[in-house]
Amino acid sequence: MTNDKNRVLIFDTTLRDGEQSPGATMTHAEKLEIAEMLDDMGVDIIEAGFPIASEGDFKAVSEIAERASTSTICGLSRANFKDIDRCWEAVKHAKSPRIHTFIGTSPLHRAIPNLTMDEMADRIHDCVTHARNLCDNVQWSSMDATRTEWDFLKRTVDIAIKAGASTINIPDTVGYTEPVESADLIARLIAEVDNADTVIFSTHCHNDLGMATANSLAAVNGGARQIECTINGLGERAGNTALEEVVMALKVRHDIMPYDTGIDTRKIMNISRRVATVSGFPVQFNKAIVGKNAFAHESGIHQDGMLKNRETFEVMKPEDVGLSGTTLPLGKHSGRAALRDKLAKLGYEMGDNELKDIFVRFKDLADRKKEVFDDDLIALIRQNNSDDDRLKLKDLTVICGMNGPQKADMVLEIDGEDHSTSATGDGPVDATFNAVKALFPHDARLQLYQVHAVTEGTDAQATVSVRMEEDGRIATGQSADTDTVVASAMAYINALNRLLVRREKSAPGSDVKEIRYTDAGE
Ligand code: KIV
Ligand code: ZN
Repeated sequence: MTNDKNRVLIFDTTLRDGEQSPGATMTHAEKLEIAEMLDDMGVDIIEAGFPIASEGDFKAVSEIAERASTSTICGLSRANFKDIDRCWEAVKHAKSPRIHTFIGTSPLHRAIPNLTMDEMADRIHDCVTHARNLCDNVQWSSMDATRTEWDFLKRTVDIAIKAGASTINIPDTVGYTEPVESADLIARLIAEVDNADTVIFSTHCHNDLGMATANSLAAVNGGARQIECTINGLGERAGNTALEEVVMALKVRHDIMPYDTGIDTRKIMNISRRVATVSGFPVQFNKAIVGKNAFAHESGIHQDGMLKNRETFEVMKPEDVGLSGTTLPLGKHSGRAALRDKLAKLGYEMGDNELKDIFVRFKDLADRKKEVFDDDLIALIRQNNSDDDRLKLKDLTVICGMNGPQKADMVLEIDGEDHSTSATGDGPVDATFNAVKALFPHDARLQLYQVHAVTEGTDAQATVSVRMEEDGRIATGQSADTDTVVASAMAYINALNRLLVRREKSAPGSDVKEIRYTDAGE
């Protein structure tokens, strides 16, 4: 049986905490798209960004606020009036706006703005009161709560409730806690803080020790009724609690943990794949719920058991998360309807324009490859090129073999104009990357270059991931093609395009990178 007391609110912070992780920058259009998907799948609260961090963040939060249909739209702000005012400006047009304000309360975090406990207590009172005067839905977070002295943590929560916060978030900012401690902390706050029953307690767990999901579920057992999480567990360092994990755990274990969320779980796979594409963070094969192998059964015993009764080796059905069991390949004679149907079964619902574009690329691939498998289609969709890209690969011819040096002839469109060159290198990929560097000189450093075969066979597509770094900014790019060198060139250019977006975002005075969480001063 479920009653309101057992309703757990899902607060998604993919677009704020998730996007903050090095290299996961999303474009404005991508943020709007992800927000729409979150809204559509039933996320209760979307943290759409950190409005003071940059003009881009402000615009994204404002536009998401204007468009959202049912989700509450929340923006993050440090504990100062300027941040809070900017946040309100961005969220105020939402049907249901929320201001989220925070300060680091642990000894380590208090030391940075150099505030005494009393000074910090006053700051919390003033900031929550200020936020509450603007918006009737205010969330307070005591950052690094799990390493904050108990008495002081309790005091901060008391003050925030008295000042009018309606949600109290208890972050495990560095992923330090463990499940028993996580449940106890929430239960003790609820038991000892005045008027605890008038607010919702929330949990926000990072995954540094691999316990984020377990800690979030334990916090629910302790009385938390809001879980903060991200799609695919995207987030700073080892990431956050993964939305798909907590939601599916609550669904699968409903007999033991009788809590409900409002999430339509059949939308999980689709959004997971889209976030992987736009963030440039591929999902690891063995990741719970959304990994490629999450429903794959290889050993004879497992396969035999599955054929007799799937529950022998599965706690949930692939359909529950929006996957179909079918693996029949498409070929060059397959039409648009078959492609649309296959993509829907794989969890991708496409608009007509998107389908048109994918269909052209599918036909091109099917001309080169006898059978187009599910993974080929997923790789195709993951090619996250955008019309706004400053650099576009127009042509590439590579000469390679035993008698080097290898040579790449390239045509690259830069800001709408074609430029060409020839470059040599130590191997075809090196020659190709040298050609890009010659046409578009840059200081970005290649941090990672990875190639995987998407399927089996010598005509398999290669999927290439590239990570680049420039002045502390990181961007990743991905691409797939039956020609490994072409895939490499496109992935490199894709990473470079993302780095350019990040560079623009970090123009002086507008960079999230410059915003220090502990800098709470006005
Ligand atoms: O990890 C954290 O503490 C945060 C806060 C801003 C809520 O992300
Ligand atoms: Zn966080």
